[in-house]
Amino acid sequence: MKALVLAGGRGTRLRPLTHTSAKQLVPVANKPVLHYGLEAIRDAGITVVGIVVGETGAEVRAAVGDGSAFGLEVTYIQQEAPLGLAHCVLIARDFLGDEPFVMYLGDNFLLDGIAGLVDAFRASDHDAQILLTKVTEPQFYGVAELGPDGEIVALQEKPENPRSDLAIVGVYTFSPAIHEAVRAIVPSARDELEITDAITWLIDNGRRVHSHFVTGYWRDTGRLQDMLECNRMVLEAIETTVRGTVDAASEITGRVDIGPGATVRGSVIRGPAVIGANARIDGSYVGPYTSIGEGCVLEEAGVEYSIILADSVVRGVSPLTRSLIGRNVEVTRAVGLPDTHQLMVGDHSRVQLRA
Ligand code: DAU
Repeated sequence: MKALVLAGGRGTRLRPLTHTSAKQLVPVANKPVLHYGLEAIRDAGITVVGIVVGETGAEVRAAVGDGSAFGLEVTYIQQEAPLGLAHCVLIARDFLGDEPFVMYLGDNFLLDGIAGLVDAFRASDHDAQILLTKVTEPQFYGVAELGPDGEIVALQEKPENPRSDLAIVGVYTFSPAIHEAVRAIVPSARDELEITDAITWLIDNGRRVHSHFVTGYWRDTGRLQDMLECNRMVLEAIETTVRGTVDAASEITGRVDIGPGATVRGSVIRGPAVIGANARIDGSYVGPYTSIGEGCVLEEAGVEYSIILADSVVRGVSPLTRSLIGRNVEVTRAVGLPDTHQLMVGDHSRVQLRA
């Protein structure tokens, strides 16, 4: 069995971070989301992986390489434009050959991995298996309607009026029958070849399509609140590891991972939290569920329930909460005029200031 990982597309909902960088590489507990997916594939016993990349392909290649660091053999498949999930299967035809495969959306996160799904598929004679879970806002997902015996009655992609609250999770298993389906369908109203349409085609043509429920924690990390929640879930399970230096004036409580070369001085860190390599935390407060990237500097600052990417600086500002801060960003106190805010913010950014 092979794996097809989708890491192209546009990350419109995580702009501006994803203007220039791949949304699949936004870190959760200081590790790119995509890496968790690749580890889950390896842990399911699959080693041959194709990764579909788009305009951020160079960055994805740099973060994954030839896959050997994960125990995988990775082939890259360039997609000329984000023409849909089923288009990815279409262009991966040569790579996939006639083997069954698991298709994994690179921005999806499943805490319990995918070994159960893959094993169930291997033991079955199904042409497709999809994963479902109940969500509160089904209109943002592919949605499945099930019949009385659990059979799939209909699949819809981001319906305005969802007929159920069962979202399709971004991990699918397919037999080679899917190749005929992706060739048979036409682009949707949003001009994409939809994998939901291809699966519907399989059902309409008498193929065996089965659904499972996700029992563990799952998130599509495409939106800020989902990234922060994923970060919280992963940090819940970390162990205390101190490879940097913490001075006697600092107070560390709860589970905290402090990376090599990091220094913590006169600060309070309340875990679970992770501080990346070579970060410097001075006279600051880092609260629960916070990931501070490599090389960041916090001075007289306070941050909690947030993600800060590498090499950013927060100085004299407190408290930041529910925040996602990109790379090489500076958040500092305005000097000069009293009671003013001074901003230089990129396109599609969101800033929420206390009035
Ligand atoms: O996360 C689950 C949802 O994923 C499902 O419920 C939906 O049925 C499914 O269509 C998908 O919806 P999204 O709107 O989240 O898909 P998105 O455009 O974010 O793409 C998912 C991944 O696939 C992402 O890592 C980008 C990549 N991709 C996407 C497209 C459209 C590609 O590599 N190429 C593409 O053409």
